[in-house]
Amino acid sequence: MKDSEKVFWDSMKNPAGNHHITAAFNSQSRTSSKLLLCLIFFISFTYLIYSLKLLSSPRLCSDSQPFSSSVDPLHNLTATAAISLSTSSQGGLPTTNQTELRHVVFGIAASAKLWEQRKNYIKLWFKPEEMRGTVWLDRKVKIDEDSDELPPIRISGDTSKFAYKNRQGHRSAIRISRIVSETFRLGLKDVRWFVMGDDDTVFVTDNLLRVLRKYDHTQYYYIGSLSESHLQNIYFSYSMAYGGGGFAISYPLAEALVKMQDRCIQRYPGLYGSDDRMQACMAELGVPLTKELGFHQYDVYGNLFGLLAAHPIAPFVSLHHLDIVEPIFPNVTRLQALDRLKIPMKLDSAGLMQQSICYYKSNTWTISVSWGYAIQIFRGILSPREVEMPSRTFLNWYRRADYTAYAFNTRPVSRNPCQKAFVFYLSNALLTNSTTGETVSKYIRHRAPQPACKWKSPSPSIIDFVKVIKKTDPKLWERSPRRNCCRVMKSKEKKTLMVEVGMCKEGEISEV
Ligand SMILES: *[C@@H]1O[C@H](CO)[C@@H](O)[C@H](O)[C@H]1NC(C)=O
Ligand SMILES: *[C@@H]1O[C@H](CO)[C@@H](O)[C@H](O)[C@H]1NC(C)=O
Ligand SMILES: *[C@@H]1O[C@H](CO)[C@@H](O)[C@H](O)[C@H]1NC(C)=O
Ligand SMILES: *[C@@H]1O[C@H](CO)[C@@H](O)[C@H](O)[C@H]1NC(C)=O
Repeated sequence: MKDSEKVFWDSMKNPAGNHHITAAFNSQSRTSSKLLLCLIFFISFTYLIYSLKLLSSPRLCSDSQPFSSSVDPLHNLTATAAISLSTSSQGGLPTTNQTELRHVVFGIAASAKLWEQRKNYIKLWFKPEEMRGTVWLDRKVKIDEDSDELPPIRISGDTSKFAYKNRQGHRSAIRISRIVSETFRLGLKDVRWFVMGDDDTVFVTDNLLRVLRKYDHTQYYYIGSLSESHLQNIYFSYSMAYGGGGFAISYPLAEALVKMQDRCIQRYPGLYGSDDRMQACMAELGVPLTKELGFHQYDVYGNLFGLLAAHPIAPFVSLHHLDIVEPIFPNVTRLQALDRLKIPMKLDSAGLMQQSICYYKSNTWTISVSWGYAIQIFRGILSPREVEMPSRTFLNWYRRADYTAYAFNTRPVSRNPCQKAFVFYLSNALLTNSTTGETVSKYIRHRAPQPACKWKSPSPSIIDFVKVIKKTDPKLWERSPRRNCCRVMKSKEKKTLMVEVGMCKEGEISEV
């Protein structure tokens, strides 16, 4: 969701957020706290009813359902369908004519008020020589000398004739929803995808391309991801691409949208934001959301660590709400932290944030690698099904909600002092052999106070550095999704743990 458009909404949930949020909260706090209570009550009530309904309704997927029978009358049909599918829609285009960055046009939703600060996030990822895009603002801003590092700026068309009747939201939602149409109307040539994002969204464009290449741009596609918050998804939609995480619309779909969007928007004056307006129009067009797990709305507060250290097995495409969450590396500014992430991103974008799990048998340690970001060492043996679950280092978007209100599984941060992870953050990464594509990334132990532990096994505090050896693997996502394997290696360097990460070998699995 667009931040600058939902000042009020945010203020209800996060009075401690950034500047504009706090300001809005102060001026509206009296009326808003009443509304807040009503809203919380309404949402909890809806949620309760919803949960009860789930419990009482018959199980949709009972065990007796014939998923597969040994004699399959549809077998021949399925085989034929599979063949035609691979040659047409989903199978991807011949590599000679594959989607490149020049086929993508970005539409970035921004507001003049926050521009000076937010433009720095865009500078992190946008490359004016290689990419096309437009920043859409509500009014003119002073043009600075850094404008050549940014996409061109345009002022959105007037939307005062559109009705807006949502009491919590802001009518800028209409302006932002129309960015797709306005970008389309610029009439750029050779466009396959329109990709929308906010001014506080950072894209990993190589991975965005990897995702888009899976789909046929000559057909209708609406690609993005949900909110982390179950309540947000209930309140807005489980079928909606959250705007801040970014979403992609194929050219023909944008063309179809342009023809109807203004009429469509008029039919939903009561909706809150820009992305729910978009979803309403997609529903009228009959186009469902194609969910891709690498787009991240990050509707959370606090520390993203748990989510970034256990990323789903999918290319890492975007991050959002960067002003709201803590810097992703400790003891540096938000921008410095994101800048550091660009080092592994350049070396091996496909592998960025990809988790691998292995064991240091003689020390009975569990090692979890989130390549290019952080390493965790746990005392004892934790199974992959535990380690691949994000630990709750972050807080719910709805302050009063707990882990039952996430749209995925999480695990608690362990209370046992012996099970507190030792965390090592990326300090640098290098290509060490350009022939083999071998890289070495170095991670340094975060010196957080570690509680006393009485277990006899060696303490991971004897390790100060972790070095990870990994070959670049640009074709990672052209294979079926599978977690990489990691192996603990002999180290010649003191206080250093050496780990190798790469494709699993024949028969290799994560076990002790
Ligand atoms: C289905 O496939 C089997 C072999 O796989 C073949 O013997 C059979 O004739 C096919 N049936 C039809 C209806 O095509
Ligand atoms: C590449 O794709 C574009 C757009 O789909 C199409 O117009 C063009 O003919 C294709 N070119 C080749 C060489 O296949
Ligand atoms: C944090 O950064 C400051 C300034 O760069 C430095 O002096 C300090 O040692 C750092 N603290 C830690 C724990 O790394
Ligand atoms: C790079 O790897 C190749 C193949 O293993 C090896 O022959 C070469 O010596 C390596 N180069 C460097 C600079 O280590």
